[in-house]
Amino acid sequence: MCGICGVVGHRPATPIVFEGLRRLEYRGYDSAGIATLDAQQRITRCRASGKLDNLAEALKETPLTGTTAIGHTRWATHGAPTTNNAHPHKAGKVAIVHNGIIENYAELRQKLQKNGREFKTETDSETVAHLLDEELKRGLSPKDAAYATIRQLEGAYAVAMIFEDHEGLLIGARHGAPLAIGFGEGEMFLGSDSLALAPLSQRITYLDDGDWCVLHADSVTIYDATGSEVQRPVQTVALTAGQIGKDGYRHFMEKELHEHPVAIGQTLQRMMDPVTRRITLPDMPFDPADLPRATITACGSAFYAGMVGRYWLESLARLPVDIDVASELRYRNPPQPNQGMALLISQSGETADTLGVLRALKAENQRIVSILNVEQSTMGRESDLVLGMVAGPEISVASTKAFTAQLSVLAALTITFARKRGTLDEAQEQKLTQSLLDLPSHAATVLGLFDAIRKMARIIAQARDVLYLGRGICMPIAQEGALKLKEISYIHAEAYAAGELKHGPISLIDPSVPVVAIAPSTILFEKMLSNLQEAKARGGLILAFTDAQGAKRLEGIADHMVVLPDVDAFVAPILYTIPVQILAYEVALLKGTDVDQPRNLAKSVTVE
Ligand code: G6P
Repeated sequence: MCGICGVVGHRPATPIVFEGLRRLEYRGYDSAGIATLDAQQRITRCRASGKLDNLAEALKETPLTGTTAIGHTRWATHGAPTTNNAHPHKAGKVAIVHNGIIENYAELRQKLQKNGREFKTETDSETVAHLLDEELKRGLSPKDAAYATIRQLEGAYAVAMIFEDHEGLLIGARHGAPLAIGFGEGEMFLGSDSLALAPLSQRITYLDDGDWCVLHADSVTIYDATGSEVQRPVQTVALTAGQIGKDGYRHFMEKELHEHPVAIGQTLQRMMDPVTRRITLPDMPFDPADLPRATITACGSAFYAGMVGRYWLESLARLPVDIDVASELRYRNPPQPNQGMALLISQSGETADTLGVLRALKAENQRIVSILNVEQSTMGRESDLVLGMVAGPEISVASTKAFTAQLSVLAALTITFARKRGTLDEAQEQKLTQSLLDLPSHAATVLGLFDAIRKMARIIAQARDVLYLGRGICMPIAQEGALKLKEISYIHAEAYAAGELKHGPISLIDPSVPVVAIAPSTILFEKMLSNLQEAKARGGLILAFTDAQGAKRLEGIADHMVVLPDVDAFVAPILYTIPVQILAYEVALLKGTDVDQPRNLAKSVTVE
């Protein structure tokens, strides 16, 4: 959700910032812009609406020189995605880029306007530029003006600022939105995440909430919210070009779909004792046997992973679970047990809604366990325990491999809890563990089914509406399938618990509304079969994901089937995720949509 990149150094800064923005484009692509200090130490800007390619074109017309620069790629919140509203924003002698929402911007803007300040955009962010310039005009140094400015801001922000007549100076600040410093040789960088900084520097410092920093080409000073100088750890981040590039695939999504087996395998390997071959998680900040209840929360795909987790924890570990999307849970205010467990799931570890719940539940004395792909994220730093998935960078906006990696962690957590709560004997545990260990190879088999899935995609691509049906633990997979289809192909899709079909949505069924069934023969199959027969009897076009045994029973009912390897019911939701995501990808290809950067979306949503 908006990407920030900044550099202060000795080389031409524009290409460095532009490439940084390329790696951040998944965070927003409504507009982009760069500002530099030119040879006269004046601010020059180039901005363009739409994707970075438009900025590249604009830069040909307006080349920017200078060794100090800031850049931004925007996911619009306040103000339309026009060139005029694009960052960097300039006021007087400063330019700034901002990620987040300044909640008190209206009040600040009014005050500034009364002082004669003229606003040129509809954004909340321009306020920051005017405040900063105003503080400079009062005679403060850039550093003091930056501190005075951020102290007036309410809401969430990561900002980067440059100042006319101060070549070689870059100031950054964060509160509620991520910002990291990259250390170079005779140059320093700012970026929204390690992906932006990866090829530039392997030494990275993540700012804590409330921190701000003053960068020169050869020095970094970090201050906390009270203005005291602080030290923050420098971490080594080693992302390879293969991890952050497309590696020969047409889209990041295609590449990431192919990484399912590795993401599952590596994640499980990390949680497995190599000697005993038992799933072993790090020590919990509580005894799982004593837990009265757990709360699970997340957003988007991660929420559906949480729904599967609820089924597992309730049925296998006999642990009652309350689950809700983070934006609802945050304001529902349900009573919490004393020292209960809150389980948060997030690929990025930065999603504002989930982070808001983390903080609220922490204040209520809950122990926070987070399942994260980016362990150094804000959620990672604020959790009592992080269970890291090992999915590698996920760049396509629609989540794929992170989802199966999340499920792998949840499966391992369930086995651990069930063992500790005495609800699983050793033989059962071995059976479940083995089914997990077999998964990467089954996932690789499913990757061989692209052609069969493409046939289904051709039908879906003609439809205006699609129904996804699942039952029990496969219901969240139907939801994930419908979400993915909506996100990247813009076809309306809804997921229903198949048993609920007869209570309403069955009236939608006619041959123009395909019904996609997630139907492994192991999970409530007889019931699913009846539900599909009900749909078929009303002219429904049935497309099914099933296994060999299910396929026999679905003969004459399903119009098209994709047959998956036989697996234990425990891991079926993980395996069946892969073909539903491939289906959405194939439909998007047929529709010609922008697969990796679907309209209106952003990957890391750092505003509420
Ligand atoms: C956005 C993305 C989704 C993602 C959700 C949660 O909406 O478009 O793909 O599932 O955020 O993100 P998180 O990083 O918290 O898993």
